Amino acid sequence: MDSSLPLVLTRTGSGPLHLQLAEQFRAAVRDGRLQAGHRLPSTRDLARELSVSRSVAQAAYDQLHAEGWIAGRTGSGTYVADVVPLQPVLRTAARPLAAAEPPLLTLRPGIPYISPTVDAGWRRAWREVSIQPPTRGYDHPAGLPDLRAALAEHVGRVRGIACGPENLLITDGTSHGLRLLLSLTLQQGDRIAIEDPGFATAVSAAQQYGLEVVDVGVDEDGLLVSDLTPDLSAVYVTPSHQYPLGGRLPVARRNELIRWARRTGATLIEDDYDSEFRYDVAPLPALAQLGLDQVVHLGTLSKLLSPALRLGWLVASPETVTRLAAYREEVGDWPGWPMQAAFLAMLRDGYLDQVIRRSRRLYSDRRNHTCEVLAPYGQIVGQDAGLHITLLLPGTDDRALAADARTAGVVVAPLSEYRRSVPGPPGLVIGYATPTDQDFHQALTRLCDLLGRRR
Ligand SMILES: Cc1ncc(COP(=O)(O)O)c(C=O)c1O
Repeated sequence: MDSSLPLVLTRTGSGPLHLQLAEQFRAAVRDGRLQAGHRLPSTRDLARELSVSRSVAQAAYDQLHAEGWIAGRTGSGTYVADVVPLQPVLRTAARPLAAAEPPLLTLRPGIPYISPTVDAGWRRAWREVSIQPPTRGYDHPAGLPDLRAALAEHVGRVRGIACGPENLLITDGTSHGLRLLLSLTLQQGDRIAIEDPGFATAVSAAQQYGLEVVDVGVDEDGLLVSDLTPDLSAVYVTPSHQYPLGGRLPVARRNELIRWARRTGATLIEDDYDSEFRYDVAPLPALAQLGLDQVVHLGTLSKLLSPALRLGWLVASPETVTRLAAYREEVGDWPGWPMQAAFLAMLRDGYLDQVIRRSRRLYSDRRNHTCEVLAPYGQIVGQDAGLHITLLLPGTDDRALAADARTAGVVVAPLSEYRRSVPGPPGLVIGYATPTDQDFHQALTRLCDLLGRRR
């Protein structure tokens, strides 16, 4: 029987004959030349027709049979199986790349200065990881015990929180710790107060878990504790350096907040994202120092080393840590061993302390310069700490201004991006940590030009 197919087998370089044959049958089914139920020639006829050995035809049929392209019944021949041919996905022609835009200079807040060259402490930490075998099996879902112990010592010394490894959970960063906490310790419909203006990621995390977000205002000292109502289940707060306006919650207001939480049973979530960088006086101890029964404390490496590391920590009561760790064990969700081991090495040999000291000097100089050059254009707030300042510009369309800055090649964040329902003046949130020295000065010059023209 004639196969009626234009089969062409080549003996040079196109692969084994039986595979060539099988592929040509597949192609014929795919493009509809061979329909379901079509009877195929016997292996003997096919071999004769193509002048190949019968074993070649048999091997091709065996392959097609195994893949389900053909079906056969003993005595009644071999048929094309009922395979609905799929249209092959056509590759769209590659689009030419848009002409490269001139690189933008960034003064957006949030990212620390990352030196283009790596230093000895960084190399030492990773070398230490590279000469150890990984853990034999799964690590503890709360984090490496030695890392938790070293971090307990670190947050005790640097942030004044009396705690042990049982209070520590290693996270992929603040956002991860926050999501874990919200999803496991609060119920859908619970009310959570979040500073307004504030951290948009906290708002979206709360909304994702069905929590009701209550906008609570801030003043130059931070969260307006007197505005908290007894029906709240949790409060998200940045007491060391209100994000983004920069207030530092004074002791009296901290005590009032803790008393309120003890009375209502609400959880206080302390986001301690950049407290290491304080330029006027030493940082106040963390809010969590006043009691891990009321406060869950979130720390991160994102502002110290790089957000790309995705590492942070959560300090809470042992019961909360155990609960979160049990969930993580179920879903297999905790930072990998190399990251944790490198972090441990950095803590142990003092590298983290060294980076904090070095960065504080750099940021302090940059902060001084930023304040000096921007002072004529508006009111600067939040300059005593962190990696950014806020320039208040009453009566300005700050989104339009940020768009103009972008056109001038500089990225800044409009303050209204951080606001929700509590009214307040517009302005620009300006980060000074990220760029190289040259870019930093150039970006400020361009921004000042723009602000000057506006006036
Ligand atoms: C207020 C605040 N908290 C925490 C973080 C860090 O989050 P993560 O540790 O998830 O990188 C940021 C980053 O921009 C932030 O702005």
